[in-house]
Amino acid sequence: MNKLIIANWKMHYGPVKAGAWIRAFRRERLPKELDIGVAVPHVSLPAARSSLGRAGVPFLGAQNVFWENEGSYTGEIGPEMLTEFGYVFSLVGHSERRKYLGETDEMVAKKVVTLQKEGISPVICVGETAAEHKAGKAKVVVRRQVTAALKKGAVAGGKAPLMFAYEPIWAIGSGKACPPDEAKAMHDVIRNAIEKKFSSKAAEETRILYGGSVNKQTVIEYMTTTGVDGVLVGGASLDPREFGLLCRAALPA
Ligand code: PGA
Repeated sequence: MNKLIIANWKMHYGPVKAGAWIRAFRRERLPKELDIGVAVPHVSLPAARSSLGRAGVPFLGAQNVFWENEGSYTGEIGPEMLTEFGYVFSLVGHSERRKYLGETDEMVAKKVVTLQKEGISPVICVGETAAEHKAGKAKVVVRRQVTAALKKGAVAGGKAPLMFAYEPIWAIGSGKACPPDEAKAMHDVIRNAIEKKFSSKAAEETRILYGGSVNKQTVIEYMTTTGVDGVLVGGASLDPREFGLLCRAALPA
């Protein structure tokens, strides 16, 4: 399985800027053995898709989705709407959504089920706060988040495989990345929880990314760590040329 890098623009770039980013990024020379995705704001998905043309890289995803396909949910976007454009993944439960929008483990679990039914891979984001980290509770917290996210009928494998991103909240946007060996230990916790829920095969096949202050200097350390299947990149993905450099620096020469 190829390693995977996903750019998370967060709340940046409306349709015009998103289109420009995609066109600029298409000019980058990229390693063929790398899978690259970009999670864009809903409103920019159509522009990103049309700027992509027939290019298969990067593949597009959403940053969030609702847990029903349609209905009286003013302001929400259902997974089925995304499928009209052939989107392939959606982040779910990013810590910023948990913090600012009150997203709970239960909401995350419902989103995972609807996404998978629509053939969209959920990238489930988990991670502990600084206080939990300090108190030595990281593993307990993350194990609980993973188990809760899989509780409502998530399936292993299939056409919309599950993915996880371990994103310690204290490492996001702080410049204080989690050292690769610590990230690996947390990835093991996530993998064990998947194994317990499904099987060792499922655990092996589920991609688990690390996210939090990854940049073009540090990306290689994560990508060469066993058990880390790729990275989720926020700030360092906003400039398409810089992100291209990061992708080129991701694999050993
Ligand atoms: P960062 O964000 O790379 O800016 O730390 C990562 C994320 O929140 O996905």
